[in-house]
Amino acid sequence: MRKKIVAGNWKMNKTFSEADDLINKIIELISDNNFDNVGVVLCPPFVYLELATDMTEDIEIAVAAQNVSNYEFGAYTGEISAPMLKSMDVEYCILGHSERRKYFNEDSKLLAEKVNILLKNDIIPIFCCGELLPEREAGNHFNIVEKQITDALWHLDSVQFKKIVLAYEPVWAIGTGVNATPEQAQEMHAFIRGIISTKYGAEVAENTTILYGGSCNSKNAKELFANPDVDGGLIGGASLKAEEFVKIIESF
Ligand code: PGA
Repeated sequence: MRKKIVAGNWKMNKTFSEADDLINKIIELISDNNFDNVGVVLCPPFVYLELATDMTEDIEIAVAAQNVSNYEFGAYTGEISAPMLKSMDVEYCILGHSERRKYFNEDSKLLAEKVNILLKNDIIPIFCCGELLPEREAGNHFNIVEKQITDALWHLDSVQFKKIVLAYEPVWAIGTGVNATPEQAQEMHAFIRGIISTKYGAEVAENTTILYGGSCNSKNAKELFANPDVDGGLIGGASLKAEEFVKIIESF
């Protein structure tokens, strides 16, 4: 059975003491519960990764980076490499988030390089895809999402592809308070699973975790996660408050 995941993408938020506080509170709330059925992932900024991996050492919470360099080491001032992340017990890394595509011009060629470097270093990519509002309005959303996925991932063989987690994040839903409806999410997730099945076979498709992201919160998570092809969420704003984030995990 494929893995259910709730991942909290903090983006560029929290000071050190706030990060420490948030992780502490999440651990406290999670310790009171039994979340055997869902993997919890925290995605803090780079500078708090070690704090996060240290604090979560004795609890079933994984840590993800929000980005990685496409180079493995060397003279790339300001960059963070996959081996560095691996050496700090980081298990996942978000890739292709719409904010990185938009503000940092990340394209599919670069993302394919980053995917390769993560897999080489045994870190699981959480690969984001999603259409802009005009693209949906023009009825182009399936084509756009398919192209984002095929351009950056289709060079992988099936052993490699099995390690990928996908996140469908319609850009118009990110940070807007307007989430995709459960029907819209299910329709796109089923479409994504379909193209994976055509390329890598039904078994790989069945076992691929596909998260939904975009204004997912404790009020709409249950409805979204109830869909057969929605395997959890990539949560932005609502992951910055411990109670809210843990309520989302409880929505399964
Ligand atoms: P949001 O962000 O939950 O704040 O809409 C989701 C994301 O960007 O991953």
